[in-house]
Amino acid sequence: MVTLAVAEGKHADFPSWKRAFSTLAPDLDVIWWEDALQTPQNVEYLLVWQPEHGLAARFANLRAILCVGAGVDHLLADPHWPHDVPLVRMGGQETAALMEEYVTWACLSLLRETRTWAWQQERRIFHRKLVTRTAATTTVGIMGMGHLGTQVARRLRDFGFQVRGWSRRRRELAGVRSFAGQAELADFLSGTDILVSLLPNTPRTRDMIDADLLSRLPRGAALVNVGRGEQVCEDALLAALGRGHLSGAVLDVFREEPLSPDSALWDHPAITISPHAASEASRAEQAAYMVQVIHEIERGGTPALLYNAERGY
Ligand code: GLV
Repeated sequence: MVTLAVAEGKHADFPSWKRAFSTLAPDLDVIWWEDALQTPQNVEYLLVWQPEHGLAARFANLRAILCVGAGVDHLLADPHWPHDVPLVRMGGQETAALMEEYVTWACLSLLRETRTWAWQQERRIFHRKLVTRTAATTTVGIMGMGHLGTQVARRLRDFGFQVRGWSRRRRELAGVRSFAGQAELADFLSGTDILVSLLPNTPRTRDMIDADLLSRLPRGAALVNVGRGEQVCEDALLAALGRGHLSGAVLDVFREEPLSPDSALWDHPAITISPHAASEASRAEQAAYMVQVIHEIERGGTPALLYNAERGY
């Protein structure tokens, strides 16, 4: 019997985890983390999202830590984080599909300026501004062509957008133009109408979307951020929108979450805000993915979405 301790959400959420796992993997002993602390040495797997600092280190015999998020940067901020334990990021079909659909929606929303429609509707204004631009004449540039980035690129390409991707190393994907490294970043940006960040949060990507980067986009370009809030310099974004260099932004992640009621981003007529909700798979799908990962590790395999400290994601 292998033991999995759940340290995600509140205790009231635990029964739904337990149910999800019991149908998928009756061989797995699934327990709540506070109960698991009675005999922490018996726990082989730990499931987390935002555990309190020091918690993971209290389990000395972990074979892996499974994160319900695709991004794990916040976990590594724990000064007691057990860096020697394999850390696995969230994956699975539903996680990817949700992100693909969110980014497709965001791009279409920017094309049709739906933020303006919402603004007008609140004020009962029936004003038409025709938009005749279509996906076929719009280039979406995705920064971060990892697990999610490549799937989003494929979906946007199949939908009919022109798609290009930027990543540290070149990624060959049919119908998607690949740009790699710092040397090709300016070229990538100069032909991008909608910039999508799906970058992980690392020292390299922090504050990367700054005034200089935004100024390299063509006039009228737009931004979709589904990476991490720390990547965007908010003042630079507001300034670029203010002088019309950028036409809009769809933001799902923020430096500070929840976004403060005082933030200038809320009221901006060209910014659409979603509450870090782009892609979170159902409990059943998350559990199915975790079971697959645990079985893989138990067989001696290496999960595909293993955190790599050298890469930083
Ligand atoms: C959410 O942002 C995640 O990392 O999955």
